[in-house]
Amino acid sequence: MCGIVGYVGGQSALDVVIAGLKRLEYRGYDSAGVAVLADGQVASAKKAGKLVNLEKALVERPLPSGTTGIGHTRWATHGGPTDINAHPHIDNAGRVAVVHNGIIENFAALRTELTDRGHDMSSETDTEVVAHLLAEAFSSRGDLAESMRQVCGRLEGAFTLVAVHADEPDVVVGARRNSPLVVGVGDGEFFLASDVAAFIAHTRSAIELGQDQVVELRRDGVRVTDFDGADADVREYHIDWDASAAEKGGYDYFMLKEIAEQPKAVADTLLGRINAEGSLTLDEVRIPPRVLRAADKVVIVACGTAFHAGLIAKYAIEHWTRIPCEVELASEFRYRDPILNTRTLVIAISQSGETMDTLMALRHARDQGATVLAICNTNGSTIPRESDAVLYTHAGPEVAVASTKAFLTQLVACYLVALYLGQLRGTKYGDEIRAVIRELSRISHEVERVLETMEPVRELARSLADKRTVLFLGRHVGHPVALEGALKLKELAYMHAEGFAAGELKHGPIALIEEDLPVVVVVPSPRGRSVLHDKIVSNIQEIRARGARTIVIAEEGDDAVVPYADHLIRIPVTPTLLQPLVSTVPLQVFACELATARGNEVDQPRNLAKSVTVE
Ligand code: M6R
Repeated sequence: MCGIVGYVGGQSALDVVIAGLKRLEYRGYDSAGVAVLADGQVASAKKAGKLVNLEKALVERPLPSGTTGIGHTRWATHGGPTDINAHPHIDNAGRVAVVHNGIIENFAALRTELTDRGHDMSSETDTEVVAHLLAEAFSSRGDLAESMRQVCGRLEGAFTLVAVHADEPDVVVGARRNSPLVVGVGDGEFFLASDVAAFIAHTRSAIELGQDQVVELRRDGVRVTDFDGADADVREYHIDWDASAAEKGGYDYFMLKEIAEQPKAVADTLLGRINAEGSLTLDEVRIPPRVLRAADKVVIVACGTAFHAGLIAKYAIEHWTRIPCEVELASEFRYRDPILNTRTLVIAISQSGETMDTLMALRHARDQGATVLAICNTNGSTIPRESDAVLYTHAGPEVAVASTKAFLTQLVACYLVALYLGQLRGTKYGDEIRAVIRELSRISHEVERVLETMEPVRELARSLADKRTVLFLGRHVGHPVALEGALKLKELAYMHAEGFAAGELKHGPIALIEEDLPVVVVVPSPRGRSVLHDKIVSNIQEIRARGARTIVIAEEGDDAVVPYADHLIRIPVTPTLLQPLVSTVPLQVFACELATARGNEVDQPRNLAKSVTVE
């Protein structure tokens, strides 16, 4: 939440910062602002609303040019999305500008202290206190990095801060606790950003900042220290994707591009993980096999779409390994005092690797002695850094707020982990594992086939644009798919959408069914557990008898559903446990098209942000 950019070098800081903010707008779009150091002064501009508002304001009132600057795109926490609450925040003398991602939990006490000392506060934000504290510290120390270290010692909560001071015209200082911050290393220029996407057009060399570190950028180098001033180890790494991966590439929305990228994302996530004999080699899972063999419980923690991936993983893990598996919303996990010990394997799933709820859950698990394996899409992000091991999904950057390709690759990674556990523990024979892997290897092609047949789904979505409610039903792994279909529709189309286990219908939700209510039903394969299939066919008849308009997702050749489907969406034949990899895709397309038909912002749905870095 909130995107931050900083720059020092030889280019126009304003141009670099605005271009960076454009790539970070997915992190928040309530307001945007910039500050540039020019002629010994801080020059700044900020505007409520999307970045485009700020750009217009800058055309009307241009800032002087400078080569050091910072910028921010906001997801509001303290104080509404107004011009005044937009970042950067500036001290009373106008010498310090600061941008912030996170929440400063003790800001109220600090604010009282500062106002008692005569500081005037203009905004309702928690961030503004930092500008004032930095100004005070700088007046006695005359060193922005040192001032930042001192101020960080006084702050509680989650904060990534980037600041400039008019008296240090070629310096940008950043600090990181809990929220992400990455340094881009250029030639005679350096960048700071919440995500490498902000500077990928300029450099593919980056430095990860660790927890509780302060970084000082100058044109000729960077210095990283801890909050006490001790030099920290700096590890430079190469970013393995380029600027085009973070662009729309001819699509109207990132979401459309990311849906289309799914076959490749799925294939890439399998790449290098299957050896010539067709067995699994998860070398990067550096958890000793004896620990994995001894695990007597798996607990999956995640949020939103990643949580739905976890719900599906439970079926595979329990079926293939016979280890009990619990799946828990990360935001609830630590508050219920879960039973964890050294024999618990916790799997934390996160696209961004920065979701605060998931991070806190994994910290809690590690404190209790559990081993944590992260499944993550973002290299070097906090969740993998703080886990015992990581299995990266290779979806490439996911920019649209609604998660699509990350979800499919999370599923692939979960299947790989489940099979790996089965392989290690001997609960699956080698030939059984190889058979599943063969199926997984052809899934990318099947996803491609689904994508080729989506026009009727788009047409159907457009025809439902004026509906108020859509329900989703599923059984077995189809239940989390139904939940995911409903989540996509809520977040993109702003419609009432709910997913249910079809078996629960008669226990309450069937009362919602009324004439012409669209109900999407995800039908399990008749070749898997035929009893499940038969039961859902009965469920379809029950809702149809009560007037529902049935939209049935069923595999090719499943003719039993035909008489009861008002709309039939065909998916390829896949093994029962792998079906979510194909059945989710029409639901993504459906939600995207419905949102477009309703005139909604597909990539930036209201009130949301891509990375949820606050609890
Ligand atoms: O980055 P994460 O995977 O940890 O994010 C978790 C959720 O915030 C995320 O999946 C969210 O639900 C998506 N916007 C759904 O499309």
